[in-house]
Amino acid sequence: MTDIKKGLAGVTVDETAVSKVNPETNSLLYRGYPVQELAATQSFEAVAYLLWNGELPDAAQLTDLRRVERAHRALTDDVRAAIDLLPTSAHPMDEVRTAVSVIGARETAGISNVMDAVGTPAENLERSIRLWAQLPAVVAYGQRRRRGEELIEPRDDLDYAANFLWMTFGEEADEVVVDAFTRSMILYAEHSFNASTFTARVIASTLSDLYSAVVGAIGALKGPLHGGANEAVLHVFTEIGSAENVGPWLDTALAEKRKIMGFGHRVYKRGDSRVPTMKAALDTLVAHYDRPDVAALYDALESQFVERKGIYPNLDYPSGPAYDLMGFDTLTFTPLFVAARVTGWTAHIREQQASNALIRPLSEYVGADERHIEGYVPDADALEAQERPEEAAG
Ligand code: COA
Repeated sequence: MTDIKKGLAGVTVDETAVSKVNPETNSLLYRGYPVQELAATQSFEAVAYLLWNGELPDAAQLTDLRRVERAHRALTDDVRAAIDLLPTSAHPMDEVRTAVSVIGARETAGISNVMDAVGTPAENLERSIRLWAQLPAVVAYGQRRRRGEELIEPRDDLDYAANFLWMTFGEEADEVVVDAFTRSMILYAEHSFNASTFTARVIASTLSDLYSAVVGAIGALKGPLHGGANEAVLHVFTEIGSAENVGPWLDTALAEKRKIMGFGHRVYKRGDSRVPTMKAALDTLVAHYDRPDVAALYDALESQFVERKGIYPNLDYPSGPAYDLMGFDTLTFTPLFVAARVTGWTAHIREQQASNALIRPLSEYVGADERHIEGYVPDADALEAQERPEEAAG
């Protein structure tokens, strides 16, 4: 019997130099740097540069990246028109997925030979930067459109995070909010071979283009077992209401064998290394907005769930309520994750392209035994091909 690794659990499928997850030491390194150190000291732009290039930027390199990012911030007419075609009740992840498709079609227009779609390493670095720069406008416009609000044009005197908040809310965010938002973007940027990154690498491995790989990754990230969990955490918070209700709510949820969103992780079994940094950011927001009730509910659910199940929170647990306090709609949370993770995805896509092998695993067939269509008589060519299967195989 073949040894099947359902869900590829425990399977190492390739090497990567982008990030290292070590569940034993509860650490996550981006290009060698602990993510907590990056979150404490760097801008999101600098971390994006690090993921793409392997080293943190010097002052000139950072200025150059910021210049390109600022030049591509505005929502383009084609993307806006495509978003406007979608119902406002469409899930924002469908909106972001559609927007990336449109951006990809525009950026690769004129490439008629499918062998050229993959692009050169330099082209793909430029594509990565431009795509990253365009996503905040897509996410911000999506939320505003659902609220019946007008598009806000970007400001080129603000850094990435401050401008993102500006385009979403139409006012300059307080320093503490910009800071918490920046930390969340850095923490969400990269996490080795998670489901969406692996999806991106599978698509890149066929020599398809970078945008197709990102569109596939967005589809994978939408699921509640992956990126959709930050949104699901807020639904849980809303359902529970307040800290006093946690005990009875948990009794029922556990009796119904429900998965509690924002807890558990395929790799980390003793806690997610990103949680303390994001929890500290959440604490600053709780103080800023004077919402001790949020902290009380957060602490009550965490302590009771950990005590009863021994399963720890993942990054989505603190980031869900943090985004809620900042004023983002719950439906916008996973698109925010896309805006951050596009840096990691594109770093992996370029790594895959640089050392490619088509990703094509095997499966154990458990379906019906061979059978035949009644009355079908194969012609001579088909019979001959059956006798020489190695030539007929595709
Ligand atoms: N709530 C309740 N029980 C959970 C749980 C959760 N969040 N996470 C894991 N468990 C339980 C499972 O029910 C299972 O129990 P069993 O052995 O009695 O059947 C056990 O822990 C192992 O879980 P399993 O789903 O096999 O682990 P996994 O490694 O495949 O799953 C996740 C990892 C992330 C899919 C899972 O923890 C989960 O669904 N979490 C909630 C969604 C979430 O927050 N996702 C974001 C991840 S960053």
